[in-house]
Amino acid sequence: MRNPLQTIGRDWPRYGDVTRYRFGAMQVFLVVHPDGVKRVLQENHRNYVKSFDYQILKRLLGEGLLTSEGRLWLRQRRLMAPMFHRQRIAEFGATMVDCTLKMLDQWNSLASTGNTFDACSEMMRLTLEIVARVLFKVEIGGELAHEIGRDVTIANERFGQFDLGTLLPWLPTLRNLQFRRATRSLNAIVGGIIASRRRIGQDRGDLLSLLLSARDEDTGEAMSDQQIRDEVVTLILAGHETTANALAWTWYLLSQNPEVELKLHAELAEVLGGRTPAVADLPNLRYTSKVIDESMRLYPPAWSVGRSPIADDEILGFHIPKGSTVMLSQWLTHRHPDFWEDPERFDPERFKPARADNRPRYAYFPFGGGPRQCIGNAFALTEANLILAAVAQKYRLRLVPGQRVEPLALVTLRSRYGLKMTLEPTRS
Ligand code: HEM
Repeated sequence: MRNPLQTIGRDWPRYGDVTRYRFGAMQVFLVVHPDGVKRVLQENHRNYVKSFDYQILKRLLGEGLLTSEGRLWLRQRRLMAPMFHRQRIAEFGATMVDCTLKMLDQWNSLASTGNTFDACSEMMRLTLEIVARVLFKVEIGGELAHEIGRDVTIANERFGQFDLGTLLPWLPTLRNLQFRRATRSLNAIVGGIIASRRRIGQDRGDLLSLLLSARDEDTGEAMSDQQIRDEVVTLILAGHETTANALAWTWYLLSQNPEVELKLHAELAEVLGGRTPAVADLPNLRYTSKVIDESMRLYPPAWSVGRSPIADDEILGFHIPKGSTVMLSQWLTHRHPDFWEDPERFDPERFKPARADNRPRYAYFPFGGGPRQCIGNAFALTEANLILAAVAQKYRLRLVPGQRVEPLALVTLRSRYGLKMTLEPTRS
């Protein structure tokens, strides 16, 4: 539990594609082979609900889209889907670029002074601002962004570090008390956003307006403030940390792989010629998108997903009893040597169609799969590619000498010691 990546990384080569762990009466099956992943997420998904750890997440996210089940989940998913259609996301692109350019303006002084900065917090601030502006048309700047960032970090640490206080949330341990304070603070912020929108009472064509105006098909009832809160907190959390981590790891990988970085710059120069990128450019930025794909292969922002079978199942010939936990791990499956040659190498060309076509669908699942696949998938990819293109065409991010780099597997995959970097101008 203290270092899950190390534990599962050690056990998988030893025991193979299905490993059973026992924690007292609880059994956890780690399933690594893509066929097993497919069985759980897609083929037999009706037999699975989200695992115990999502119950813990519910303490913050309530019955939002990520943690709810059954009819409630389906109703909410259908309701929110239109906000995430490709066409809609294309409209969001301009805001994504706008926020990035604003950040680049602030980076000018960093570049001229040679001062260091933490790429993780910068990416976190940027993606938080984007999700808030795009989905809720709210500006989250300065102090508020700082507060949300702090609350999210506390929550992430609470969820990611399992101890007695996790099992007994009322126990006044330091982590539990900090978590309660962070939840209260997030509730107050989100409550304020909802209340101010109710006061204005105007449809702004964003997700919040959609949630406020939604009516139940059968009863005609509006959504409760609590349900709206749960969805808003879920989207703020799920919608910024993951993408921020994907980008932070990408900057790290580029700084360590100059030949990949050179190819990326060459493509940006050729396609954009110094112009600010837009959504319409994305289909032509093929190498750029492979850099993001490959970065999420090695450092998947969601490094595992868990499910619990409601009836007995069989996975890859092993009996999986109902009520147990099945753990799928992008961190391992994305390194499976049967599907990834020289798995530790950062090689975006693996995603060229000629090399990717024969790979099973579930050898790579950064966004999960089946009906519970990430609703923000296209949003995140559009955002990550636009930010990568806009920043990389201007700056190279260099890792500060001596910076220790180690992944930290909380709910998302962070860098344990942050990523201190400096800026250098990109030479075309
Ligand atoms: C690189 C960025 C992202 C990654 C790697 C990622 C990954 C994932 C994964 C693996 C799941 C499935 C969890 C499971 O099966 O238990 C998921 C679900 C979800 N994600 Fe993302 N996500 C990203 C970005 C986003 C964004 C930008 C948003 C919203 C703006 C978002 C909102 C959600 C929601 C609401 C769910 C629950 C969907 C449902 O169960 O219907 N995610 N995400």
